[in-house]
Amino acid sequence: MVKVITYGTYDMLHYGHIRLLERAKALGDYLIVGITSDDYDKTRGKINNHLSLIERIAAVKETGLADEIIVEEYEGQKIDDIRRLGIDIFTVGSDWEGQFDYLNEYCKVVYLPRTQGISSSDMRAEKIKLRIGLVGSAVFQTKFINEAKYVNGVKVSGVYASRMGDEPEVQNLFYTDNYKELLDRVDAVYVISKPEKHYEHTKMALEAGKHVLCESPIAYTKEQCRELYALAAKKDLILMDAIKTAYATAYERLIFMAKGGKIGKVVSVDVVCTSLRDGISLEGTDLSNKWNSMCGWAPVAMLPVFQIFGTNYKDRKFYTKFQDKSKNIDAFTKIDFVYPSGIASVKVAKGAKAEGELVIAGTKGYIYVPAPWWKTDYFEVRYENPEDNKRFFYQLDGEGIRYEIVAFAKAIESGKNMSYVSKEISEAISGIIGNFNDRINLIEFE
Ligand code: CTP
Repeated sequence: MVKVITYGTYDMLHYGHIRLLERAKALGDYLIVGITSDDYDKTRGKINNHLSLIERIAAVKETGLADEIIVEEYEGQKIDDIRRLGIDIFTVGSDWEGQFDYLNEYCKVVYLPRTQGISSSDMRAEKIKLRIGLVGSAVFQTKFINEAKYVNGVKVSGVYASRMGDEPEVQNLFYTDNYKELLDRVDAVYVISKPEKHYEHTKMALEAGKHVLCESPIAYTKEQCRELYALAAKKDLILMDAIKTAYATAYERLIFMAKGGKIGKVVSVDVVCTSLRDGISLEGTDLSNKWNSMCGWAPVAMLPVFQIFGTNYKDRKFYTKFQDKSKNIDAFTKIDFVYPSGIASVKVAKGAKAEGELVIAGTKGYIYVPAPWWKTDYFEVRYENPEDNKRFFYQLDGEGIRYEIVAFAKAIESGKNMSYVSKEISEAISGIIGNFNDRINLIEFE
């Protein structure tokens, strides 16, 4: 019996796939189809499959062409499968020509001509077709534009900013200094204007019937944030808080581990986020366009605190060193939270530097995330006995931005909010920023 194996994602099964499977089957007597898992696809850069693994398996099964279906979960599995299953022929489409020649050592390798004019990528793009407009600061926009290119069907189609940046990517886009004009041309906006403008820009977009992905804080008070979520719900629109770290796989897993009891009961969370690149403490720096340390860093820094302990803290204090108090620019702020079951400390700074670590302490051990923890692909779970320590690595591409765009696009397509940052957390973040602006429970030092 000649055993044949072939691999693929088989998202939104199309006739190109069916023709491939028919010809693969004809090469032998028994056909095994390896279908990629969602996690494995993510590491290969296929980040927005339309269908889940189970649905993709069901579709291939339905064709009746596969005698057996297996799941491909890791790099290097092909060799293991070929040996384990006693494969005679490995085959894939000619888009992979030459790339699997190394398997000739184990079995015969056959490349079958790819069917022209159809692909899952094109079908996904056809299905989503989301035009996003960018609102505000040019530097971050460039990152977003580059990341959006990885998401099938999403197109950045214009920029609104009162001042144009000189990045070439931005220059190629439609640009306007009239917000309404941008809103007329898009289905959704990514708001990255100055924090005090977030509420206004988000509200205008929602009122115009556009979905919104907004940098945190979404508003300057809890009430305003709540009002925006209510408006979005009323108009059947998606409003999402853009904290990219929430979408980093390693971050997501470590939060689950902390909450799942891996280190016992969590007693404290210590978070540090600092950067000096904005130069806010340098003599003569124009502070009028700068985000302060609180808006620049506190939303992401508070995320693990709120995700682990919740938003019902008993007490909260700010300790702040201002760079320019009249412009509300803080060089450094420490926020202490007291909860019934633990405490948290958040240090944020754009005018001071410290190690950007995250440490979650528990009754049995602790989770250590090295700097810069907010774009982490790695963390350790450590115990009293170092032999019990464990290290975890999860690939991170594009700092989480592309996964965030995928979640946003999927939420819009399905009409269900798929944000990894809950509405309660979004509101709590806005509330804290508001408290800081109002100097509530704030101790200042020189
Ligand atoms: N295939 C083919 N002809 C096509 C599309 C795919 O012969 N028009 C083959 C591929 O070469 C591969 C198998 O079908 O052997 C599964 O391919 P997969 O990557 O799942 O499909 P694509 O449509 O190429 O998906 P994408 O656009 O996401 O790359």
